[in-house]
Amino acid sequence: MSGRHMDKIKIFVTRKIPEEGLRRIREIFDLEVSSLDRNLTQDEIVDMAAGAQGLVSMANITIDRRFIDRLTDIRIIANYAVGFNNIDIEYAREKDIVVTNTPDVLTEATADIAMALILCVARRIVEGDRLVRKGGFKGWYPSFFLGVELQNKVLGIYGLGRIGKTVAKRAIHFGLKIIYHDIKPLEGEHLDFPAQCVSFDELLKESDFVSIHAPLTKETHHRFTKKEFKRMKNEAYLINAARGPLVKEEDLVQALKDGWIAGAGLDVYEFEPKVHPGLITLDNVVLLPHIGSSATEVRERMSIVVADNLLAFFKGKPPPNRVN
Ligand code: DGY
Repeated sequence: MSGRHMDKIKIFVTRKIPEEGLRRIREIFDLEVSSLDRNLTQDEIVDMAAGAQGLVSMANITIDRRFIDRLTDIRIIANYAVGFNNIDIEYAREKDIVVTNTPDVLTEATADIAMALILCVARRIVEGDRLVRKGGFKGWYPSFFLGVELQNKVLGIYGLGRIGKTVAKRAIHFGLKIIYHDIKPLEGEHLDFPAQCVSFDELLKESDFVSIHAPLTKETHHRFTKKEFKRMKNEAYLINAARGPLVKEEDLVQALKDGWIAGAGLDVYEFEPKVHPGLITLDNVVLLPHIGSSATEVRERMSIVVADNLLAFFKGKPPPNRVN
């Protein structure tokens, strides 16, 4: 630590985030950012974050009990993501560690990716691109490369939170009818768009597209398995831009291979960054590399939210995005 920063609180950032957020942190704190172009191991974080009171973590760094016990000086973990399933937030609370996330600023971008996946699977966009590139486009004819239109189809949203609602609003403009299921009762909440609340079973049976927008929790882990895929229409598509482990991936592969459902559009995976080999060979699947919030402006706004949470906390104010 340099003499100039001697009295400042140290914040350790586990992987480089956009400069605007770093600048705001640097103005007040003694900032250290990992210079490595990869995720750090737990051992490396313990070592590099020694003496730090604030830790900026990434969604793919697991912060479990054992790790929390080793983060002896940390008082706040600011997760650079809206999802915080990577952190044992209850245990952090027991240890008096505040955890924050970055909601709102990535809602629209993530909804765009879900909508893009819906369009891609319905109209076979990625498959079409692959066909043209390998010289397979020999000319137009009436039954060539048919997909399905969106108009009047049913979009079933599993998890009608910020992102689920924003997907619904986008989808309505494409002529989709919205049904939804949420594990929390939403009765009484006024929705400013037409949507029907249904049971989970109805959602599975009636949707032409099931789009997952629920957080990953003990309750939602493996919410989609063989049983659920068998209940869906054979013509239906599964979309997941939330968290991979909501879906049991090996069951999804079977559902796709055996035609229980028509296809899938995925941005996230059960064992990320590994993708089930059975998915890779299927044409009726669109696979993205977890890019829901991956837009320059969004990632910058996320860095500012991280900085705002740290600043509020160390000023003794409630951090705006505390999750525990
Ligand atoms: C989020 O913010 O949760 C994104 O999925 C990035 O992990």
